[in-house]
Amino acid sequence: MVYWTKIVKKHINLSLNSRIPMTKQKVVLAYSGGLDTSVMIKWLNEKYGYEVVTAIVDLGQGEDFKAIEDKAYQVGAIKHYTIDAKEEFVDLYISKAVKANGLYQGKYPLSTAIGRPLIVKKLVEVAGMENAAAIAHGCTGKGNDQVRFEVTARALNSKLNVLAPVREWNLNRDEEIEYAMRHGIPIERSAKKYSIDQNLWGRSIEGGTLEDPMSEPEEDVYEWVTPPSKAPDSPSYLEIGFEGGLPVSIDGDKESLMSIISKVNKEAGRNGVGLIDHIEDRLVGIKSREVYECPGSITLIEAHKALEKMVLTRHQLSFKELADSEWSRLVYFGLWSDPLRSDLEAFIDSTQVRVSGKVRVKMYKGSLAVVGLQSSYSLYDKQLSTYGIDSKFDQKSSAGFIEIWGLQSRVAYEVSKKA
Ligand code: ARG
Repeated sequence: MVYWTKIVKKHINLSLNSRIPMTKQKVVLAYSGGLDTSVMIKWLNEKYGYEVVTAIVDLGQGEDFKAIEDKAYQVGAIKHYTIDAKEEFVDLYISKAVKANGLYQGKYPLSTAIGRPLIVKKLVEVAGMENAAAIAHGCTGKGNDQVRFEVTARALNSKLNVLAPVREWNLNRDEEIEYAMRHGIPIERSAKKYSIDQNLWGRSIEGGTLEDPMSEPEEDVYEWVTPPSKAPDSPSYLEIGFEGGLPVSIDGDKESLMSIISKVNKEAGRNGVGLIDHIEDRLVGIKSREVYECPGSITLIEAHKALEKMVLTRHQLSFKELADSEWSRLVYFGLWSDPLRSDLEAFIDSTQVRVSGKVRVKMYKGSLAVVGLQSSYSLYDKQLSTYGIDSKFDQKSSAGFIEIWGLQSRVAYEVSKKA
């Protein structure tokens, strides 16, 4: 429920800040439509005398962008941009995360982390078009998002000032509501229970009752994934086709990666797949309890990994694991703009050439299993691995191999017995 109060125009006292020139400068604000960034429109105006241009980037979060635009104007934005960046997100961000099996601390598919640099890129573009002096965001001083935002912005345009009002204003929730009421900013009647960020690649949920790591998330936390106990009683299967490391078909139909992600999100979510609940190490050193719903990303990464295991040599696999986790750490830590990312991607891309084939996944009440694999680049050879009589592997050759393989370890063991 939302109720609206009349906006009272405030006189801006320019003497507040002597650096403010007579023609007002513009700031581009990453606007979500929520309380924080709405208050920010007024605050940036009052405190710094900025004219506020708002912008929201559509990464598939499925929001009412028209309502958000209306609210931005109602609160006092001089101009608002809604930027559809879904395709760019899929082509240049998500696809890299798939190839790199991007998971932070082995668990989190980086959905928020890969979205931030693209949001910043779009904001910097708007700032250029509007000839703005600064961009502003609503991140707190405790998380990773502030780092991702500011590092990327500085890399893209070092002349732009970056403002983080939440870090500066030190308002508690009550003071913020009081400020909002005083300035005629609409306030949602029911306070939000959690802090949520979502896009095509996943949904992050933080705060509220989740802050007690001993308490199980209440069911109202989840929106994308059916609680496993309520998921269908018979399993669902999907066959995902890959070419060059990327999903290209689903159940035999060629489709865009965006549509494959949406479909897998729905199907895996319906079967209770994609819940993550773990203690995560933020870049600033804080440990936090993070809950995610990532049905599509978890399923596609799992399928991709299984196919890689079939077509890559073990030497490629073990080195790629290092490259993948370094890529994930770098991206989580806000260094999307660091050249190491493209260095790692050059290696990763070169491994993906033969990651083509079909993966059959089975989803059932929260469990996910790869139950079928096929590739024309498969290194799996049944005539080598079989225990049947049609084997072409000469078992006698293993004896000499074992002798040499264990040689040094055996010598070291004998030396340690003597010592
Ligand atoms: N911990 C995750 C990350 O750092 C998710 C952050 C979610 N942000 C939010 N505003 N709820 O990427």
